[in-house]
Amino acid sequence: MAIIMDGNGRWAQKRGLPRVEGHRRGALKAERVVEWAAELGIKYVTLYAFSTENWKRPKEEVEYLFSLLVTLLRKKLKKMLEQGVRLRFTGAIDELPGSVANFCHECEEKTKQNDRIHAILALNYGGRREIVDAINKAIQNGVTRVDEDRFRDWLYLPDVPDPDLVIRTSGEMRISNFLLWQIAYSELYFTKVLWPDFTKQEFLKAIEDYEKRQRRFGGL
Ligand code: FPP
Repeated sequence: MAIIMDGNGRWAQKRGLPRVEGHRRGALKAERVVEWAAELGIKYVTLYAFSTENWKRPKEEVEYLFSLLVTLLRKKLKKMLEQGVRLRFTGAIDELPGSVANFCHECEEKTKQNDRIHAILALNYGGRREIVDAINKAIQNGVTRVDEDRFRDWLYLPDVPDPDLVIRTSGEMRISNFLLWQIAYSELYFTKVLWPDFTKQEFLKAIEDYEKRQRRFGGL
């Protein structure tokens, strides 16, 4: 499963709160969603936490997002270890400020033995960027020809299966450069609910909706 966690800013604005309060509530919700997914036996959840385009936001908001990420994960690392959560990151992680990048690697290292659920945070992530990075990596390794299967080997996380379901909150009906290669046959689910308001009931509703769909992958 993959989730575009949208609507934190609007959630805060509606309540006369600063946008960053929306992000704080959104981050707590992200943690809950990983728990709900693990309870259901979902093995991989990829969460869009920061896109390559999000650098256009005010500097204070960007700084807040990264400090929130580090503070929250630091606080929750022990619990995640106990719950069998393997924390992973996707995106241009090594272009993040050094301390953030190091912290991401540290979280990956510490949780790498876990396999109840892989919680993957997309950070400094862009789908086109991932494809271009993959091509360049392949070229640097002397590859002159790829096919669809071998191309996957050059993506950021080749072992992570394509998402069956992509959820986007807050009513926007677009993909915003998320997992472009991986979502070729994913089912899409959009809800108007703003991310901090996303409930377990909403989560289950998305999955029920997904279960009713017939996936033909181009066949009959
Ligand atoms: C979209 O809301 C949300 C983001 C750009 C950031 C998502 C980040 C988090 C939920 C926190 C990440 C931290 C962890 C630990 C997962 P928006 O600001 O675009 O909302 P708006 O469209 O209403 O303005």
